[in-house]
Amino acid sequence: MDHHLAVPVGVTLDRYIMHNQNSFAFATGELSQLLRDIALAGKIINREINRAGLIDITGGFGTNNVQGEAQQKLDVVANIRFIRALINGGEVCAIISEEDDDIIYTGNNNAKYVVAMDPLDGSSNIDVNVSIGTIFSIYRRITPLGTQPSLEDFMQGGEEQVAAGYILYGSSTILVYTTGNGVAGFTYDSSLGEFILSHQNIKSPKDGKIFSYNEGNYNQYAEPIKTYLNHCRDRGYSSRYIGSLVADFHRNLLKGGVYLYPPTHKDANGKLRLLYECYPLAMIAEQAGAKASDGSQRVLDIKPDSLHQRVPLYIGAETMVKELLGLLK
Ligand code: AHG
Ligand code: MN
Ligand code: MN
Ligand code: MN
Repeated sequence: MDHHLAVPVGVTLDRYIMHNQNSFAFATGELSQLLRDIALAGKIINREINRAGLIDITGGFGTNNVQGEAQQKLDVVANIRFIRALINGGEVCAIISEEDDDIIYTGNNNAKYVVAMDPLDGSSNIDVNVSIGTIFSIYRRITPLGTQPSLEDFMQGGEEQVAAGYILYGSSTILVYTTGNGVAGFTYDSSLGEFILSHQNIKSPKDGKIFSYNEGNYNQYAEPIKTYLNHCRDRGYSSRYIGSLVADFHRNLLKGGVYLYPPTHKDANGKLRLLYECYPLAMIAEQAGAKASDGSQRVLDIKPDSLHQRVPLYIGAETMVKELLGLLK
């Protein structure tokens, strides 16, 4: 965020957005309203998550998504809530979601923005009370206003994102986002029903001593990955892996660390999805002074070719990612 626009910690998300609105190009309020709509959906999901065990929305929904994953009830609930909030907000003409095969048309064909989202990240953790999240990525549409949006609105590439963020439903619920002018974090105060500015201008440490990967996949990794992981171990770094990308990413962003999801036998391009996991977190990482690569190029430089394509992800502290990339050359 522009320093001269720095606002006091303790301000609500709404006030913060208003205060910084003029830093958006062509600010006419729609992006501000869209961010509010996402925050509203986050408050609703937060409430559902906190009651999950009480209102029987834990467990499987009995269907599989396009990823071939068994959808959890909360995956579906979160997906529906976000889609509904975005439709009702009126600022979005189309949505893609991890939980839907194809583009979701909102009917708001005069709206300027499209959203790619992972409505609930870390589904395997839902029923066991471990942190989970939501990830979102926003583009200005390139198809003409008033027409039906199309695939090309979503295939613009990571550099074209106008905003990216996540909500982490953890020990506290925090919304972190960027519009390209730095990264800010807002902690939810449920007694007020407001997200309050708690992290004014997040800058990630340039180095770190935390590494995050699924150790169960170690034997499937290419030799340079194993070499890097052994370096981390030899240096006595901490291995921390929650199994929710948003939670692992957020900890590494604040404390300094690196998260790896390399190719495995099951997922030859890695497991994580480019459009609604890797691109948005890569934008946030770079805005906070960290790095994000697929092992051969910046994540934000990857050319998208399909809605649910997967890419390897190495994301976190600059020094750590650079050392890993050096080994991958
Ligand atoms: P999602 O729950 O949205 O499908 O994403 C899960 C992702 C990510 O959150 C997490 O880091 C990773 O899957 C865990 O995968 P493994 O269980 O294969 O380690
Ligand atoms: Mn999933
Ligand atoms: Mn996910
Ligand atoms: Mn998900």
